[in-house]
Amino acid sequence: MRLLANKRILLGVTGGIAAYKSAEIIRRLQDAGGSVRVVMTTAATEFITPLTMQALSGNPVHLELLDTDAEAAMGHIELARWADIILIAPASADFIAKIAHGEGGDLLSTLCLASRSPLAIAPAMNQGMWRNASTQHNIERLRGRGINIFGPAEGSQACGEVGPGRMSEPEDIVELTAALFETGALAGKKVVITAGPTREAIDPVRYISNHSSGKMGYALAEAAAEAGAETVLISGPVNLAPPDRVRTIPVISAQEMYDAALSEADGCQLFIASAAVADYRPLQVSEQKIKKSTDTLTIELVKNPDIVSAVAKRPNRPYTVGFAAETANLEDYARGKLERKNLDLVIANDVSDRTIGFNSDDNAVLVVEMQSSEAIPKINKSILARQLIAKIAEMIPE
Ligand code: PMT
Repeated sequence: MRLLANKRILLGVTGGIAAYKSAEIIRRLQDAGGSVRVVMTTAATEFITPLTMQALSGNPVHLELLDTDAEAAMGHIELARWADIILIAPASADFIAKIAHGEGGDLLSTLCLASRSPLAIAPAMNQGMWRNASTQHNIERLRGRGINIFGPAEGSQACGEVGPGRMSEPEDIVELTAALFETGALAGKKVVITAGPTREAIDPVRYISNHSSGKMGYALAEAAAEAGAETVLISGPVNLAPPDRVRTIPVISAQEMYDAALSEADGCQLFIASAAVADYRPLQVSEQKIKKSTDTLTIELVKNPDIVSAVAKRPNRPYTVGFAAETANLEDYARGKLERKNLDLVIANDVSDRTIGFNSDDNAVLVVEMQSSEAIPKINKSILARQLIAKIAEMIPE
């Protein structure tokens, strides 16, 4: 299970022979779904190269506190804010002493001071250094401040001695890191959401579309990511910023949305179709701008493929949720769509009311299942999205 989905881990590496294991920690954190940025002390770079850590993490490695280039890209305060957790592995005796005394002379110790996120350290040192009263005193100080201490393990050491001080194994460190986070209702699940309108070209400058702003779909994507899901948002053209921690795939037409949705439906456990997909597209798209030469103009339209129905027809289909934009008979029409499109759930909204539905900040919906329905009164779309995601999370079969 991807227990660290959407989690941002700032991995601090200090100087010690165990630094080579931090490469394996990066890989395992990523396997668990986490994004990793690495900060290395000068001593750490003697044991493993920043280039290795950069290649593995997929992000530039941060080394210096006073580096104008690095500050311009992502300043140290921004980095401290970015992290959901700071994990220092290996943590040397020297570095443990430094943070126990609140020092901030280098980038990593400064981040420890600046960040409000949890801090975890995996000590690694010679057994004599670990047993030393000063180190033990520092460790107790850190524990007293709520800092998580992972390990160390006992055994034979690189220096030839035997005893406590070896860094814990990467898989144990990653498991302990994941355990510090509350598991969201959708942790370990892949969720795909369609949002916004589609545009169907008539000629190079004109298209058929609708008033969808994408607000409902974007709010659902944010709520799904917040609930721990690996979230993919397939979005028609809208004026909204891509949500944080969500992989957003921009598309224009219904056919593009269809292609993206069918390819992303693989390995997905929940599919939510909130997009207002154009039902028809022009049969011919004129290569040149159509001239105003006649009094009337006839455009022949053909039906677009139905995205949500195609997803619901797949073998091993995800739990499939459709929306129904109606102007009358909300419940009956929604139930009709539930059956016709083979859906698990339909969220119906009355789009004749300008204060809800299309392009508004609020919505009021009827959640329709085959045998029952539940009304959720008018509320902000972000709050509604969280309620819907919590409800749907309970309905998805394990
Ligand atoms: O984007 P906002 O401004 O926030 O507005 C939100 C909304 C009103 C667009 C949203 O709440 C909504 O109702 N979305 C569905 C709009 C719609 O197209 O409904 P429909 O009843 O025509 O379609 C039924 C379902 O089939 C929908 O899940 C739709 O995404 C899906 N569909 C439709 C046609 C098609 N070719 N492929 C589809 O997947």
